[in-house]
Amino acid sequence: MLTREDNEKLTRTGHDSPMGALFRSYWLPVLLSEELPQCDGPQVRVRILGEDLLAFRDTHGQVGLVEPRCPHRGADLYFGRNEGGGLRCAYHGWKFDAAGQCVDMPILPVESAEKTCPRVAIKAYPTREWGGMVWAYMGRVEEGGELPALPRMEFALVPESHRYVSKKLQECNWAQAAEGGIDTAHFSFLHMPVARSEEEFVQRALRAVRGYNAQTMNQDHVRWMREDPRPRYQVKRHAAGLVLGASRQANPGEQYWRIAQYLMPCHGYTPSAARGQTYHGQSWVPIDDQSCWIFCYSWNPDRPLTPEEIGSYDSGGAVYPARDAHYRPARNRANEYLLDRAVQKSENFTGIEGVSEQDAAIQDSQGRIADRTREMLGPTDVAVVQFRRLMLQSADAVARGEAPPGRDDPQAYLVRGGGTVAPAGDDFDAVMLRRFGDDMGRVRAEADATAS
Ligand code: FES
Ligand SMILES: [Fe+2]
Repeated sequence: MLTREDNEKLTRTGHDSPMGALFRSYWLPVLLSEELPQCDGPQVRVRILGEDLLAFRDTHGQVGLVEPRCPHRGADLYFGRNEGGGLRCAYHGWKFDAAGQCVDMPILPVESAEKTCPRVAIKAYPTREWGGMVWAYMGRVEEGGELPALPRMEFALVPESHRYVSKKLQECNWAQAAEGGIDTAHFSFLHMPVARSEEEFVQRALRAVRGYNAQTMNQDHVRWMREDPRPRYQVKRHAAGLVLGASRQANPGEQYWRIAQYLMPCHGYTPSAARGQTYHGQSWVPIDDQSCWIFCYSWNPDRPLTPEEIGSYDSGGAVYPARDAHYRPARNRANEYLLDRAVQKSENFTGIEGVSEQDAAIQDSQGRIADRTREMLGPTDVAVVQFRRLMLQSADAVARGEAPPGRDDPQAYLVRGGGTVAPAGDDFDAVMLRRFGDDMGRVRAEADATAS
């Protein structure tokens, strides 16, 4: 449970809000590189942290992220032309480069334009392309100050053939979507098949986890999650966030561990992949306080992704929903996720198709902004509690003028999450060492060298 004040602090990300200032202390994914496929191509509208912006790729390939308002008389640069190294306003031809600098005022007398032009600029945020996404730094940079380095997330370090990147629209506040990602206890219900026989259960379990590796999310794992719905949680803080372990009874004498990562300020890794398999992650980036983009990525450190993997991510599998050209899930808030009551009776727990869609439906159902003042939390909510504490403390740190966790430690982002079966007597540290060779899931130097 949170107080009303803390719930506001956690969920509000606009200008002048503590959480907004925390988000603006980091590089954030703001759109996919594929949304700007060519130089001088069409600019696209982007709304992030409640701010309406325009993104465009200039003649040299540089991505600009600028305010859409032309300072001359307020025309919307969305209607302008992307040409010759900048965006030209369609009204009277003022032109702005990717850094927001005015570079041409063709309507003014030449002498006056030469004087005025260098003094006029629109707001522009620094951008970088990293791992198939455009990242922006929306914080304040002091005069002569340096930007932080981009986080060394593994999906961005592997060759392009080893990763898949997309995004999906989610119509609720970022924080409850993120909480869904770190609350791995819900699999025992939300994603559970319903069946009349064990054989049918196995078939449906495999269908339910399509897009994940058959070896890493198989019927045994789903069965263990069905039979032990009370996972025991352990959470550790590290330099960039949290590592969250949950163990369930597996075969006699063994525990099935699912280990997720949360990385500041809004990235999470899923808990299923076994060693050598394909990993999945998501970044919950506020569009505003009522909706967010969930950037999704899958990567395999050891090999290119297979056509089967890519096909399932394209069509709705693993963390990806079936979606339209605007990245809106086909099953969404407006159509109640195509909930089918007959399916809910006899095939799966929700009557909704797809793991990603089931997550979205239930997170949206908590309200546009979940009311955390009326919750009744229990032991399986410990990860959610730790997440909130980390976020609130970090927002306070930024308000005091301190650097928040991980901001100046890009290497701390080079971690993995995943699953494993371990002897029942092993504690969390032993399990981490067994699965990752490191107590926090950090990728070892030799793996890093391969990845780079
Ligand atoms: S309003 Fe943009 S140039 Fe006049
Ligand atoms: Fe889920």
